[in-house]
Amino acid sequence: MSVRHVNGRGVSPLDVSPHDVSPHDVSRRDVSRHRPSGFDAAIAGCPCRLVDDRGAARPLLVARWHAEPDATDLLVLDRCTGPTLDVGCGPGRLAAELTARGVCALGVDVSTLAVRLTRLRGAAAIRRNVFDRLPGEGRWRHVLLADGNIGIGGDPVKLLARCAELTGPGGRTIAEFDPAAAGVRRHLATVQHGACHGLRESEPFRWATVGPDAIPRLSNEAGLRLARSWTHGPRVFAEFAPRSRANGVG
Ligand SMILES: C[S@@+](CC[C@H](N)C(=O)[O-])C[C@H]1O[C@@H](n2cnc3c(N)ncnc32)[C@H](O)[C@@H]1O
Repeated sequence: MSVRHVNGRGVSPLDVSPHDVSPHDVSRRDVSRHRPSGFDAAIAGCPCRLVDDRGAARPLLVARWHAEPDATDLLVLDRCTGPTLDVGCGPGRLAAELTARGVCALGVDVSTLAVRLTRLRGAAAIRRNVFDRLPGEGRWRHVLLADGNIGIGGDPVKLLARCAELTGPGGRTIAEFDPAAAGVRRHLATVQHGACHGLRESEPFRWATVGPDAIPRLSNEAGLRLARSWTHGPRVFAEFAPRSRANGVG
């Protein structure tokens, strides 16, 4: 994928356009070798549960990942009016919907399978860890952390700060929170499932479960401003913006 530098300053998120990101122009290297993710069985569509290191288990919403975006998703996507990075895109329903709307979108996922499925849905996707170098750093208008992805890497403050690097000064990060959780719990997780593909439990990986009550504290600790939070049905979201440089607040 190429990212245009329109005027040499290279700071406007609008420098990333739909012409820069297409399902066809991302390197084939990304899918040439299988790279597993703890979530692969779920990405493949198997009913799965996420189990923490205390043995507490919660079902993963696999059917939602593979369905078309629902009314709640569509409201979130309405806020994505410019180039959008869908971090931990899974099978890619959000990146695909944005692409269908003509919004520049790129799915990012550590799983080769997720990247392949996202591309099959018509969106561009790249196999990459969100903490590694990514295209268009500092120029994305929106970053999405949907459906528990605020837990990626097990450190939500570090993740939000990383997302702020990706968006730069004019951007926003939209994250979803677990309405059944309280505070931040960092843990080693596994994904357990039935006999799908002969696997029963993933390797442990770092994850965090984050409840809505943690939103103000996370915003503060990540050096961000809480622009907005909202609920739609049972789901809870927050949108984070950079603080202005002048006075430390937005
Ligand atoms: C909860 S699932 C994604 C669900 C998806 N956002 C949706 O709503 O359909 C979490 C995803 O994050 C990916 N992931 C985990 N760690 C990651 C990392 N460090 N960088 C990028 N993706 C990651 C997993 O492979 C998995 O696809």
